[in-house]
Amino acid sequence: MTFEKRILCIGAGYVGGPTMAMIASQCPRCRVTVVDINPERIAAWNSDNLPIYEPGLDELVRATRGRNLFFSTEIERGIRENDIIFVSVNTPTKSFGLGAGMAADLQYWEKTARQILEFSESSKIVIEKSTLPVKTALAMERILNCRENGIHFDVLSNPEFLAEGTAVRDLEHPDRILIGSRETDNGLKARQTLVDIYASWVPKERILTSNIWSSELSKLVSNAFLAQRISSINAISALCEKAEADVAEVSRAVGMDSRIGPKFLNASIGFGGSCFRKDILNLVYLCRNYGLDVVADYWESVVKINDYQQERFIRNMLGAMFNTLAGKRICLWGFAFKANTGDTRESPAIFVARRLLEEQAEIVVSDPKALGNARTNLTGVRGQIRYVEDPMLAAEGCHAIALLTEWDLYRNLDFPKIFDSMSKPAFIFDGRNILDHRRCFDIGFNVYPVGKPPLTHF
Ligand code: NAD
Ligand code: UGA
Repeated sequence: MTFEKRILCIGAGYVGGPTMAMIASQCPRCRVTVVDINPERIAAWNSDNLPIYEPGLDELVRATRGRNLFFSTEIERGIRENDIIFVSVNTPTKSFGLGAGMAADLQYWEKTARQILEFSESSKIVIEKSTLPVKTALAMERILNCRENGIHFDVLSNPEFLAEGTAVRDLEHPDRILIGSRETDNGLKARQTLVDIYASWVPKERILTSNIWSSELSKLVSNAFLAQRISSINAISALCEKAEADVAEVSRAVGMDSRIGPKFLNASIGFGGSCFRKDILNLVYLCRNYGLDVVADYWESVVKINDYQQERFIRNMLGAMFNTLAGKRICLWGFAFKANTGDTRESPAIFVARRLLEEQAEIVVSDPKALGNARTNLTGVRGQIRYVEDPMLAAEGCHAIALLTEWDLYRNLDFPKIFDSMSKPAFIFDGRNILDHRRCFDIGFNVYPVGKPPLTHF
């Protein structure tokens, strides 16, 4: 079969894999190849046991793999044979040198640019899919177009807005697709090529085009706004606990204002995930670099509130359990950073687990999809840790349950049986406010939600 377009994606992670599977599914006349330096990851993409858990992804990959979707470690060949290259490598926070702990670490990014330059034998469109500091495309263009050999590269910015756990749905029905380009003849032509790919399934009015710097910045700002909403409601949850208000009621009342809207106002133990923290810190770093310290401080406070919320959760546990956790057994329900994913990157559960172990509690970690990652996260951490998939067995003999991920399965367990199996007095700390608190209290638990008055038998 001859294909109309040959697409490569460098980076087979949470973004590269699902995004390319969706393009392959919606554009059967495109051949899509996903490459990665990590051979185990590629082997997993080629197996029945995909490297990431995402509802609907197995079906999507099964329908396209081997037809017009291919996973490979042959990066050089991929670059040579394809005309449109998405770059979706990781862009973590820099851990060394200038900007350590704040700026984006662009080493993987730059390596990829140099590889594209080295192995290209024809002109290409190169698309930033990773989340990057504003003006990265300029550096990319300078690297790619530094040789005078007749090969031309157009760089586009096409940030990804999918959320884990709903990635397939988000990719199929995106709120918007954003494509930034240079406003030159070549830039506009390249932009149109990418618009045409998305137009196969995304309504035209949802495909936005913009200047390239606006596109890069919009991604950082979108994540900052989302995280800001969570920190705002979490800040109010602290006040609710003092003022005997109920944060869910406040959130509902506030969110019904159509100018504010109801989404992303669930108070919680704090946001996790690989991106919010790193992208806000990146924004903060950019602002400081441009001398905008007041703006930087404003956005940095979103991260500070998130750290405060997690520490507050531990302090509430300590306070409720008579100021000592030493020797007590505490069950963690959920380790993933949100429901419907096995991803634990920056999960608040990592912080909670470490802090509980510092207090010399024993912990039992339970999660339906994230136990493998939890083990990796806690490798080398001192203390007594057990891993038990079944939440009811995990809670047996424990003094407390800390609910950290909003998995549906925790809502409807046999709570009287769980209560009977636990040490008394038994506590539940609901870090996601998903349980029926009154019912748990009536069964005998002492219940501590986030941002609501506790229900205790003392
Ligand atoms: P990830 O770590 O899951 O995947 C990145 C992959 O790139 C890894 O498999 C790694 O081996 C590979 N890689 C690194 N350097 C490479 C190289 N030189 N050649 C080939 N492969 C290489 O990361 P992710 O979660 O997919 O995120 C990728 C980017 O997308 C980040 O910038 C992130 O901020 C952004 N993003 C992520 C999400 C999300 O939900 N995870 C959503 C939107 C945007
Ligand atoms: C987020 C954004 O929602 C995506 O648009 C973006 O593409 C992505 O980051 C990214 O750039 O990586 P994701 O981190 O996968 O997606 O998941 P979210 O649903 O945004 O949740 C993030 C965290 O906030 C989770 O820990 C979640 O539990 C928490 N959260 C979310 C709350 O505590 N309260 C809420 O009301 C909503």
